[in-house]
Amino acid sequence: MSNPKQLAGERATEYVENGMVVGLGTGSTAFYAIQKLGERIRQGLTIRCIPTSEQSRMQAEEEGIPLTDFSQVTQIDLTIDGADEVDPAFHLTKGGGGALLREKIVASATRVQIIVADESKLKDRLGAFPLPVEVVPFGWEATRNRLADLGCDPVLRRMQENTPFQTDNGNLILDCPFGRIDDPPALETQIRSICGVVETGLFVHLAHRIVIGKTDGTLEERIEPQPL
Ligand code: 5RP
Repeated sequence: MSNPKQLAGERATEYVENGMVVGLGTGSTAFYAIQKLGERIRQGLTIRCIPTSEQSRMQAEEEGIPLTDFSQVTQIDLTIDGADEVDPAFHLTKGGGGALLREKIVASATRVQIIVADESKLKDRLGAFPLPVEVVPFGWEATRNRLADLGCDPVLRRMQENTPFQTDNGNLILDCPFGRIDDPPALETQIRSICGVVETGLFVHLAHRIVIGKTDGTLEERIEPQPL
């Protein structure tokens, strides 16, 4: 097996134990973790899961994975999710798949967040990947202008047919090409203070372990560095 995403996704499932509540991430790397969890459940693993998107919910249901929600649980033991960029301090950009809001709600309620990625996601600094920001549809143009004031030229995410991409929550995504993000916590605070913004794809202090699959078939794991 030499698919780095599959390597990382499947490895992360080894941290899942009987009785756990598990968050299911979204994207092509989390896909492999969900697939593997389905396999382990059919072999007797007993867990309950909360998906971070309708896409992951559908995959989980097809795999026969028992689902739960926040009306039933207050904390998630472990979540396995992907990322678009990971910096040395474990700050992340997420939302390439448009699921950032549910992903952040789940991550915020999670004890151990495992990020699965191939090595192309490791960056010295965030920002090369346009930062996804979820905004309410009403007045999105005004929200875009406030985001532009922060030093980028936000682009409304569209589907192939050119219709605006709609998130699972009925909102829009503005992709914000900052180029470089020198201070992720500060930028997250600035963006979240803009009226019309629902959530940003900047994940600050929300990752505990990174599992990296490599093209040579090896794996690397990093544990969250202690904040200075
Ligand atoms: C979805 C996400 C994904 O986790 C992120 O885009 C990484 O996806 P992939 O594993 O397909 O590269 O944040 O909103």
